[in-house]
Amino acid sequence: MSKKRVLFATSEVSPYMATGGMGQVVAALPQALVSAYASRYDVAIVCPLYEPVKRRYSGELTFLGATTAKLAWRDQYVGVYSATRDGVMYYFVDNLQYFGRERAYGYFDDGERFAFFCKAVFSVIEFTGFHPDVIHAHDWQSALVPLYLRTRFADKYSGIRSVLTIHNLEYQGQFAPHTLSDVFDLYESERSLVDWNGCVNLLKGAIVTCDRLTTVSPSYAQEIREYGGHGLEPILRENAYKLTGIINGIDTELYDPATDKALYRNYSADSPSEKFSNKRKLRDMFGLRQNPQTPVICVVSRLVAHKGIDLITQIAEDLAEMDLQFVLLGTGDHYFETYFRAWAAEHPGKVGINISYSTETASLIFAGSDITLMPSLSEPCGLTQMISCRYGTIPIVRETGGLKDTIRDCRLGDGNGFLFPHYNAAELLYTIRKALELYSAPDTWSKLTQEAMRSDFSWKSSADAYAAIYEELL
Ligand code: GLC
Repeated sequence: MSKKRVLFATSEVSPYMATGGMGQVVAALPQALVSAYASRYDVAIVCPLYEPVKRRYSGELTFLGATTAKLAWRDQYVGVYSATRDGVMYYFVDNLQYFGRERAYGYFDDGERFAFFCKAVFSVIEFTGFHPDVIHAHDWQSALVPLYLRTRFADKYSGIRSVLTIHNLEYQGQFAPHTLSDVFDLYESERSLVDWNGCVNLLKGAIVTCDRLTTVSPSYAQEIREYGGHGLEPILRENAYKLTGIINGIDTELYDPATDKALYRNYSADSPSEKFSNKRKLRDMFGLRQNPQTPVICVVSRLVAHKGIDLITQIAEDLAEMDLQFVLLGTGDHYFETYFRAWAAEHPGKVGINISYSTETASLIFAGSDITLMPSLSEPCGLTQMISCRYGTIPIVRETGGLKDTIRDCRLGDGNGFLFPHYNAAELLYTIRKALELYSAPDTWSKLTQEAMRSDFSWKSSADAYAAIYEELL
């Protein structure tokens, strides 16, 4: 049997550019696929070449040459660079006008930038000769790939099948109706594909035109059809026949307290005692008092409302009166950043805040804490709860999406965390109190951390599930 080719089209991929979980997933899944199915798949990834990637990884990149992409009336330059990592080929699309910028998103012309990227994906296929059997697109930024496969490239690439993975339905790529032809190179006769509430909605167009649709947990796949679809519920119900929820894994080699270089001291489920040294270090870093008996609760999150950060602000004063210490890492809404800075200033020695983000600091926080809070309003999958378990830090999560699919409540048997059902601050506080009761019984707590550290969050079974979808399509 000849090998099948899968091309991932994505706006971010770790370590080159990652603004959230999607970048990590899009890096890990291809690797899991080639290591489990080396004889079955060739996997390549195509991604924009942003300015910081060009700067930091210039030594790793090879310039293959240049071609063009046509986007409506524009004929645009497409420089093609490549790199290889662990058996996966990466292609980068270079174009200074669109990607010669510091950040991946947040510009007035993001719609045009990613429309260009999706067109350039086809130029890269032509230019490199990497002709895929399946193109796997991710979120709205590559949503035009399945759309173009059904429209502009319907004749030329009729054999290519498409998979769309939705990492977060909150972001749909919605634009004014007049952008249809000029910006997105779709014809008036194709408007119904993308039309939603009078706007051009790229994600909707991709949901309708892709061959298979996946999202990042079974519970989220259910929720988005019923109430969590950010307005797209009817479309998701109509297309439910091709929708599957597949839980993400995490990179268990990268997130391993036994080898993680960011830690002060390494430890493992078999020999966990050095977790305490990391806690001491963490207290120093965040200016917390060295009270060995006091539990440390952490939050490592983007500081935005749907992550449940407002629930934490609502119970902040209760937390300040309890015997615990609190550490927070993340950036986000100005309101939350200001709130937490002020809160930490009021409680020196007890509350430590770092308004920034780095994976190294995150690792040290997970290693040095006892409990992580993830009270999300919605969470398609969530990676933090899994990483936190690996480091023996017990997650308290709201029962939603991927949180529900990865965390089992320890009060109901062999669990790896705590869940609370409703989005409300009193329930969160109640669950924290329950967790702290358990924490004060060291034997029970250490059994719980053992269970959490031994949870299986590897990519293998998820890679199998994606492979099964590709096989059905081929
Ligand atoms: C998005 C989702 C998150 C998920 C990640 C990777 O960031 O918000 O829940 O884990 O994508 O799929």
